[in-house]
Amino acid sequence: MHDETLLQVKNISVHYNGVRALKGVSVRLDRGEIVALMGPNGAGKSSILKSIFGLAPVSGGEIIFRGRPVPPATHQIAALGIAFIPQGRRVFRHLNVEENLEMGGFMIHDKKILKRRIEEAMDFFPVLRRKRKAKSGTLSGGEQQMLAIARGLVTDPEVLLLDEPSLGLAPKIVKEVFQKIRQINARRKTTVMVVEHNIKSILDIADRAYVLDKGKIVAHGESFAFLESDILERVFLGGVGAK
Ligand SMILES: Nc1ncnc2c1ncn2[C@@H]1O[C@H](COP(=O)(O)OP(=O)(O)OP(=O)(O)O)[C@@H](O)[C@H]1O
Ligand SMILES: [Mg+2]
Repeated sequence: MHDETLLQVKNISVHYNGVRALKGVSVRLDRGEIVALMGPNGAGKSSILKSIFGLAPVSGGEIIFRGRPVPPATHQIAALGIAFIPQGRRVFRHLNVEENLEMGGFMIHDKKILKRRIEEAMDFFPVLRRKRKAKSGTLSGGEQQMLAIARGLVTDPEVLLLDEPSLGLAPKIVKEVFQKIRQINARRKTTVMVVEHNIKSILDIADRAYVLDKGKIVAHGESFAFLESDILERVFLGGVGAK
């Protein structure tokens, strides 16, 4: 079903001031998939997404998108159809919902297209349409996360990179956010790579998953296989891991 490889991270390493965050990491994303990245704090999950988006100091390996190496600058990567929604739902708190969505589409010069894209993004999040004139700082945590995702959709990306979309949200809201991600994937055919610590819920919507520990991939496979194995417990309790 998902047989066309869209994005390949090949054997990359990342060092921050001499400290190793990733060592020889390879992951791939096939068109139409939802792929989860899991692992303990500091494992290097965010570094993978940042590497793809040109925001991490990659010191080796390569990143291939649609058969070609990704360009170095973030705005060039975004222009290819990759969107990154960082950890910590950063919305512009003093701008209203609609203005935040306009910021997401700042690269779109045709006002009509921008307007249509904003409406399409709001189709997934009726609450944002209702609150389109509300200052985003007044929204709940869940609504802010939805706004951050919607803002990423305004560019109509082919690939959505999501970093910890459920962080700090109540379980009921986590479920809702994950359902939205699934809807976006199903209706727009957006390919998704999502970092998540909420393992049970993410495996419900992901096709495949990678487990990272200390900067290396320690397991990967289809989601159902993880649900039936104890590898995650072992990684999170420190029983398995990269040296
Ligand atoms: N800008 C930076 N400068 C220095 N070290 C960094 C920087 N960003 C990340 N690191 C280090 O690199 C390692 C991997 O970090 P990364 O943020 O990728 O992990 P993570 O798996 O996303 O963790 P978390 O679950 O806490 O978000 C960690 O040891 C972290 O302290
Ligand atoms: Mg992180």
